[in-house]
Amino acid sequence: MISRVESDGRPVVAILTMHDSYSMFRGNRQNFQEIIKTGKDMGFMVYVVTVRDLKLNSGTVKGYTLQSDNSWEQRLCPLPQVIYNRIPYREDESLPWVRRKIKECQKHPHIDIYNPHFFNKWQLFSWLNKSRLTKKWAPLTKRMKGFPTLYEMIKRKPYLYLKPEDGKAGQGIMRVRYQRNNSLPYRIQIQNNKNSTTYKAASLERLWNRVYQETKGSSYLIQQGIELAQVHGRAFDLRILVQKNEFGAWSVTGIGARMAGAKSITTHVPRGGTIEDPEKLLPIVFGQERSEAILSEVRKAAVHMARQIEKSSGHTHGEMSMDLGIDSEGVLWFFEANSRPMKFDEPAIRKKSLERIFQYSDYLINQR
Ligand SMILES: Nc1ncnc2c1ncn2[C@@H]1O[C@H](COP(=O)(O)OP(=O)(O)O)[C@@H](O)[C@H]1O
Ligand SMILES: [Mg+2]
Repeated sequence: MISRVESDGRPVVAILTMHDSYSMFRGNRQNFQEIIKTGKDMGFMVYVVTVRDLKLNSGTVKGYTLQSDNSWEQRLCPLPQVIYNRIPYREDESLPWVRRKIKECQKHPHIDIYNPHFFNKWQLFSWLNKSRLTKKWAPLTKRMKGFPTLYEMIKRKPYLYLKPEDGKAGQGIMRVRYQRNNSLPYRIQIQNNKNSTTYKAASLERLWNRVYQETKGSSYLIQQGIELAQVHGRAFDLRILVQKNEFGAWSVTGIGARMAGAKSITTHVPRGGTIEDPEKLLPIVFGQERSEAILSEVRKAAVHMARQIEKSSGHTHGEMSMDLGIDSEGVLWFFEANSRPMKFDEPAIRKKSLERIFQYSDYLINQR
């Protein structure tokens, strides 16, 4: 028999994740602990629930509660008013029974669920391109349908990024460059764990063989490459956390910068990238005044894009992180948005991001 816990009048928020045969449930435990502690301090009852245990037609659900010694106990908890979706893997979330459960939550008369699905990279670009306001930030992007797409794109842009549609953390990313007046004018760089491998080819057909070897069977995007601003020869881009606030409005929680590792074609920290402060980095390239203007555009653009993405998705989202690039001219570009933002390592952003989860939950509850 598992014992019951009562909400004692507190608003109830559940973190939704997937069960796991080895460790009870999936997801970043430290993240969940910090979310629960913040919620508790703000007067909420918070627990973790797996999709499997979330039975909406019974009065209570089996949830994992955090004990004072940081251990997890399964308890019978009241049904949540707000469900914060943190299912960590696309593969789990796309299972039909998981999709059905999420739909049930969306239809439930007393429950709000937010971040109901992962984003697909292709969809993000097509959504941004639908609005006059947001399309200027979307690099030219095509779905790769064989050699003709590569051919068509390289004619228009001599620098391209190839990215898996459902990729994350730099997996499977390649870039292609055409350099005229070179005996081997086509160059492809393929991202490995921490470095990248380069091949050179005399013709695009030859280069395609290499691309095909890497991509066969999986869906890829081909995208205009952006010449990112650099400091000391290392490219950097921005990670923006956008969340809904206590008024239910999209708002920028924080902006971080990530600088690419010397041998990497992406800026991810696990691939040798480093965490930087955009307010220090940007002035090195653009000077103080220009940097302030860029950052203020970034803030506005991120809010516009979050609204457009949410509206186009047709579902309620409460937070997303965005990867934005600034090119060497200071122009802003969108690379991707993620509906399961990773923890931000910058302490001020982190603290605010945790609080916002509950400020927005509070808003949802008061709306009812
Ligand atoms: N079109 C592009 N031009 C230049 N750099 C890019 C482009 N697309 C991606 N990148 C670089 O690669 C990184 C990873 O790309 P992203 O689309 O965010 O994929 P992932 O899902 O693997 O994180 C970006 O943060 C950026 O540094
Ligand atoms: Mg990314």
